[in-house]
Amino acid sequence: MPDQQLALIIPSKQATFTVASRKIPKPGPGEVLVKLQATALNPFDAKIHRDGTFVDSYPAVLGTDGAGIVEEIGEGVTKFNPGERIFFHGAFDDNDLATFQQYCVVTTDFAAKVPRSLSLDQASTIACGIGTAAIGMYGTMNGIGLIPPWERGGWSKYKGWPILILGGAGSVGNYVIQLAKLSGFSPIITTSSLKHTERLKSLGANHVIDRYLPLPALKQAVMKITGSRIHMMYDCISTAETQEAAWSLLAPGGKLVVTQPSLISKDSHDSRQVVPVDGSPQSDENWETGKRLWAHLERWVEEGHIRPNNVELLSGGLRAIPDALERFNAGKVDGVKMVVRPQET
Ligand SMILES: NC(=O)c1ccc[n+]([C@@H]2O[C@H](COP(=O)([O-])OP(=O)(O)OC[C@H]3O[C@@H](n4cnc5c(N)ncnc54)[C@H](OP(=O)(O)O)[C@@H]3O)[C@@H](O)[C@H]2O)c1
Repeated sequence: MPDQQLALIIPSKQATFTVASRKIPKPGPGEVLVKLQATALNPFDAKIHRDGTFVDSYPAVLGTDGAGIVEEIGEGVTKFNPGERIFFHGAFDDNDLATFQQYCVVTTDFAAKVPRSLSLDQASTIACGIGTAAIGMYGTMNGIGLIPPWERGGWSKYKGWPILILGGAGSVGNYVIQLAKLSGFSPIITTSSLKHTERLKSLGANHVIDRYLPLPALKQAVMKITGSRIHMMYDCISTAETQEAAWSLLAPGGKLVVTQPSLISKDSHDSRQVVPVDGSPQSDENWETGKRLWAHLERWVEEGHIRPNNVELLSGGLRAIPDALERFNAGKVDGVKMVVRPQET
């Protein structure tokens, strides 16, 4: 076991990424050390670097979505053994838990074994997307507090309730559609480029509406399906335009999850609710929801209830990440999850 590894480091706020040597961390109680075979990229990584927000301490290592092989077990861990393939949700605000490096420490509450049917590349695409989807839908602090499918009576609980999911083709959107299906929502309506229609229907969407329709036409298309405004919405994109569209279709008493800060101005008598999600399970507020989700993920993935994002594998290991993050800033990520293999650096 080496003592040092390669990591992609931001030396100081908004500075150029550099690949450098970093000490391999030690797992503490309830943690394992993983040799990272795959890490997936998120728009959030690009924003942290571009805007210098969310991370206070530098040098910083980013990356939250990982899959790899367990190398070492921390005190009290019985869930995993060395040599097992796991996927997990890391953290961007603790360098030892971040995934843009060759080895990282993993909180076992937010990790699961990778079923045989999945490659490690595919498994690495799940964490942030499904965490954000689940906390937004089922979290009581950073979400709208629906009864989750892992709780008694939660499976198919919302049968007959329509849901509108803006931006179904993105990573978060893919998982919101799949969780909406487990929760029984029907019909599941999503917006996307129409080229993704077949895939989104295979994940559980009943109707895919062209995301380029102007607002009046979008409203008309939704009303044609449901006959009235909708009580449950998840805006996975949350630009000013998508939030405006969602708000205009939200029924009195309805609930809307947004993935970016809310831009809705509502008066105090409005019974509708807009909730910005924080998709990281590592905060105290989200820990319990995250833990319960991860306790079910291995089985759900194995049984095909949850399918990974489509992988776009980038060559060059960690060195491919800086240019790839620019693609998020340019809006050039289209229905795929970019993945790199840190061991190929
Ligand atoms: N708050 C949190 O904790 C949290 C966590 C995760 C993500 N986020 C944020 O959530 C957003 C989505 O993240 P992601 O990982 O899902 O992104 P992503 O996978 O990169 O999303 C890419 C997709 O967005 C779709 N899209 C772009 N503009 C759209 C619009 N106006 N209407 C419908 N679809 C649109 C495109 O769909 P088409 O291909 O159909 O054109 C594209 O395929 C990002 O802003 C991210 O920073 C927040």
